[in-house]
Amino acid sequence: MEIEIIAGDITKTKADAIILDFFEGTKRPVGDLAGADKALGGAISRLIGQGEIKGKLNEATVIHSLGKLPAARVAVVGLGKKKELSQDKVRMAVGGACRLLQQKGVASAAIVAIGAGTSGITAEGAAQAITEGSLLGVYSFRRHMTKEAEHGQLKQLTIVEADKAKLPALQRGAGKGKVLAEATKLARDMVNEPANYMTPSHMAETAAKLAKDYGLEVEILEREQMRKLGMGALLGVTQGSRQPPKLIVLRYRGGGSAKVDLALVGKGITFDAGGISIKPPQGMEEMKSDMAGAAAVIGAIIAIAQLKPKLNVVAIAPCAENLPSGEALKPSDVLTAINGKTIEIISTDAEGRLILADALGYANKLGAKLIVDVATLTGAMRAALGDVYSGAFGNQELVDKVIAAGTEAGEPIWQMPMPEEYKEQIKSDVADIKNVGGKYAGSITAAQFLAEFVGDTPWVHLDIAGTGLSEKDRGYIVKGATGVAVRILANLALSLAK
Ligand code: BES
Ligand code: MN
Ligand code: ZN
Repeated sequence: MEIEIIAGDITKTKADAIILDFFEGTKRPVGDLAGADKALGGAISRLIGQGEIKGKLNEATVIHSLGKLPAARVAVVGLGKKKELSQDKVRMAVGGACRLLQQKGVASAAIVAIGAGTSGITAEGAAQAITEGSLLGVYSFRRHMTKEAEHGQLKQLTIVEADKAKLPALQRGAGKGKVLAEATKLARDMVNEPANYMTPSHMAETAAKLAKDYGLEVEILEREQMRKLGMGALLGVTQGSRQPPKLIVLRYRGGGSAKVDLALVGKGITFDAGGISIKPPQGMEEMKSDMAGAAAVIGAIIAIAQLKPKLNVVAIAPCAENLPSGEALKPSDVLTAINGKTIEIISTDAEGRLILADALGYANKLGAKLIVDVATLTGAMRAALGDVYSGAFGNQELVDKVIAAGTEAGEPIWQMPMPEEYKEQIKSDVADIKNVGGKYAGSITAAQFLAEFVGDTPWVHLDIAGTGLSEKDRGYIVKGATGVAVRILANLALSLAK
């Protein structure tokens, strides 16, 4: 979809549809909506009077103009109460409206700079939200469908602004929004891709190609190098699969020094069958998404490469399949990770923390000053927070920054506690630690496990087990992969560079 910004009057704009907003609790249309209402002989006022248009958030009403306006349809989108408007509500409302219009066969739409000037939203912020919302809202994954969709694509969205002076700000916002949305779509595509396509090797090829396209340095560590580095935990997880493991390293250099200012580490299990501790079959297909953390750090560094903050970032994605076989890792096995710590395996299904142990240790070896990892790590996280909030653990100062980056992205984050007391649960009788901490507080004991591999480096762990996939369409989120954390991490890098 193309996003264009022009100066003009939206009620005079020709398109398959124009998108106008309406706040909850308002009695009659104002501004452009009043103009459209007048042209339509009061149709919008009547719908408001009848209670069909209430202005509730995510409500969208499509009215045919029947030749009374240059545009064939007027879509009135609700934004909720004016006082409560936020950038994310704009993103949500626009995402939902664009998807609805696309389903109705609309190929071109025009929109006003919804939200600009309300609740502290700038013109730039509004254009960014509109761009992200629309691009992500009309997203679909049809790569393996042999039949065309029943409807076409929304191909063009034009932001129409009456005040010429605002155009540069709108351009800036839309430009940033496009980078962030496209990077999020990259991550969604990787996660939605079936596990027989998105193998560790394919992840590495995808990352290498993206690196080339966006001017990043790339290095793919193979099994032999993992052995030399002592990555016994990652090697243990991969040994049950015929697919070779890959450790993807992408580097962005935006800072003056040679130092790594920020390491982004993402869990890349391309399929998690559980290994010998095999999962029940119900819903196992969802486990193709167990590389969503890896997809997020790859997407984020691609966005960072285009937004060019002044700092050095490295993305590290350990990729492997977790399958049972005659050669697979077994409960009771003991593995030695990159930092020399030994791990007793209780469940081979707690594999994410194993591959992350070596990847976090590797980030440490590279001298990273800050580390953030992202992982679909525990079912317990999904049980606790569902699909709205991601959970954050770790260094308070960095957690605060990550949460702020999440708020800005409209991807909310809830901090979880991880005091020393929980470490008791991962003590082993035969090794330094064990990979499962018992029945309770599973997300916290998993975080405590990871903490063993980051040394003294300020570190945050984001558990996206609940937020990586969505079961339904909701605003700019569509059923399937969400691409969560791409925009959080990109925002974080931008804020750290300030
Ligand atoms: N990939 C799963 C966690 C997961 C569950 C992600 C549901 C997304 C949705 C992880 O590898 C796993 O299997 N975790 C186990 C850990 C347990 C064995 C300690 C879990 O959460 O059950
Ligand atoms: Mn697992
Ligand atoms: Zn897993």
